[in-house]
Amino acid sequence: MKIKAINGFKDILLDTVLRWQHIEQTARDIFERFGMREIRTPILEKTELFSRSIGEATDIVEKEMYTFTDKGITMRPEATASLLRAFIEHGLHVLQPVQRLYTIGPMFRHERPQKGRLRQFHQMDVEIIGAHEPQVDAELMAMGQMLMDALGLSVSLEINSLGCPDCRPGFRAHLIKYLEERKEDLCPDCRRRLTINPLRTLDCKNRGCKALVQDAPSILDALCNNCSEHFAAVEQTLNLLGVSYKKNRFMVRGLDYYTRTTFEFITDELGAQAAVGAGGRYDGLIRQLGGPDLPGIGFALGIERLVLLMTQQDNCKALKPSTDLFIAALGKEAAEYAAVLVHKCREHNLKTAMDYSGRSLKAQMKQAARTDSRYTLIIGDRELSEKKAILRNMQTQEQVTFPLGESIEKQAKKLPIIIQS
Ligand code: HAM
Repeated sequence: MKIKAINGFKDILLDTVLRWQHIEQTARDIFERFGMREIRTPILEKTELFSRSIGEATDIVEKEMYTFTDKGITMRPEATASLLRAFIEHGLHVLQPVQRLYTIGPMFRHERPQKGRLRQFHQMDVEIIGAHEPQVDAELMAMGQMLMDALGLSVSLEINSLGCPDCRPGFRAHLIKYLEERKEDLCPDCRRRLTINPLRTLDCKNRGCKALVQDAPSILDALCNNCSEHFAAVEQTLNLLGVSYKKNRFMVRGLDYYTRTTFEFITDELGAQAAVGAGGRYDGLIRQLGGPDLPGIGFALGIERLVLLMTQQDNCKALKPSTDLFIAALGKEAAEYAAVLVHKCREHNLKTAMDYSGRSLKAQMKQAARTDSRYTLIIGDRELSEKKAILRNMQTQEQVTFPLGESIEKQAKKLPIIIQS
């Protein structure tokens, strides 16, 4: 019986890898323009790290974590908690009052797999720790938008504020009262959540709940002065930076650590999995995890969802594997000569290929076309004795004579100049 990959765990193959590399490289370039530095943390962490940060009453902690219960360790379901653990453990705030960090890697959640939702998925996660200014919130969103633009993706940015420990409890009580009065019309999940996590009702996908919360109190009307000023300054900075956004008072996020600004990059092209990236502020979290009392904000982008969107929005045509030069050798001596020339060309930065099977010229030219080679150098035993080969431009089909009189080293230096000109 064939052994297959586990449900929700996917191989990333060939052309798809090119898209991943393109996304990661574009992201790294942009993150670094914003002063972000990469850190890498382990996949396994103590379970408590996630229950204390993400929250006991969240779907992630309640039912989605891959936990080794006998060992008290869990495969990270997200990166924020791990980055903060590392930040605190290594006292990174001592090195820099404001740390700008990013990490890229796999996360694990035991969700029901579907399009854009996996059990092993990959995030590019960015955190700015130590800055409380609203301009930083806007800067992060602007960075996310810059990345979307660089990838040619059309998404929309939605923002909200979840208030702070001063104003959220009042809103929560107000909301519970509103929901209690309409309890009969809530879905069983929301009825259960009513007292433990009532805000989640606001983004419940159930049609009845959706209709019911339309007239529910708005958190944006319940913000204290400080939160309200913070939110207004975030909006003002987004406007100054020319970043379009929409306010969405129903956005609550599935992790408990958020305070004030939350945001999501949304698409309507991926079915139920609308968020390609999401995040927000978590001002009390670092202290709660035993660190200094520092504010923080961050977001994470799901690479699989970006790849799906790129494929759907047809943005990956230019991402094809290609070879600069294919060397077709005919005859034993020519093959030996070609093997050395291929190696030397690779030393001189040319993506070079050859076929060692001694097949006909026709078969080798087919192989050159398959590798999407830009040029082919044809060397036969006769050409070798006459010290010249044929260099063919595979696009224009133009052919020129390439002299083999000089040393292989010299030829390998010359070829990139011709090919890259
Ligand atoms: P999150 O909303 O849980 O936030 O995940 C962020 C992104 O990860 C989502 O928008 C989505 O693109 C991707 N994602 C999440 N779950 C899956 C899945 N099962 N399959 C595929 N993609 C998925 C966080 O994780 C926060 N740590 C973000 C953050 C950083 N907040 C502050 N800093």
